[in-house]
Amino acid sequence: MTQVNGRPINRIVILTGAGVSAESGLATFRDSDGLWEKHDPMEIATPEAFERDPALVYRFYNARRNQLQDVEPNEAHRSFARLQSQFSGDVFLVTQNVDDLHERGGSEQVCHMHGQLNSMLCVACSQAQPVPGDYDGTTYCPACGVAGKLRPDIVWFGEIPYQMDTIVSMLRNCDLFIAAGTSGVVYPAAGFVQEALAAGAQTIEINREVSEVTGYFHQQRCGVASREVTALVEELLAD
Ligand code: OAD
Repeated sequence: MTQVNGRPINRIVILTGAGVSAESGLATFRDSDGLWEKHDPMEIATPEAFERDPALVYRFYNARRNQLQDVEPNEAHRSFARLQSQFSGDVFLVTQNVDDLHERGGSEQVCHMHGQLNSMLCVACSQAQPVPGDYDGTTYCPACGVAGKLRPDIVWFGEIPYQMDTIVSMLRNCDLFIAAGTSGVVYPAAGFVQEALAAGAQTIEINREVSEVTGYFHQQRCGVASREVTALVEELLAD
């Protein structure tokens, strides 16, 4: 039986953030070379910004989606996928990342609480669609045929993340919560560790530096995700 700090582990919830994709070459948000250093999030990642300057917002997300063609998953993505496929209990993976590197690293279940770059949302028919290529304020929705109503399928500041009911129920039933590569600044994700703690779970943080919510974790493993995630997964699978 796998144990952490002497406690048996059957159900694991993993939360990932931009730090997990950093070694693949995707910029994080809040590091010194991060996306929010170069762009004001209030000019890009809010419904109001999209209303004010949709062309800028389409450009930003088209560029980020196109960048996915030039990057590959790293050992952290692959190790989490290995945990999901080989662990004897349940492993639920929730990510704040909007890239597709967990899937390409082999994960079959990924909950994208902040949406996905490879998806676009039609506000006329409410359908999410795969993105066929660059799109903008003139593109027709492939589902309902209405033009000019497609937006990035990204949860912006002020919007409610996807699948919160499922996530909260997983947190309330887990024995181990792992957060990797996230600064612990953006809620509700930053509060997941407290939810898991309240449920009696063991909590482990993996990050290059301690996060804003580090005090809620039983263990801090400081270092790059590719190395630290791989080491932790090996420990969990060895028991
Ligand atoms: P942040 O950019 O806020 O934090 C990334 C964290 O990863 C930082 O704490 C870094 O120290 C750490 N880090 C960087 N490189 C790492 C590495 N190689 N290994 C391990 N850790 C590393 O990104 P998030 O916490 O994911 O939302 O940001 C949360 C949300 O804020 C995002 O989903 C995004 C953003 O606004 C939306 O766009 C809706």
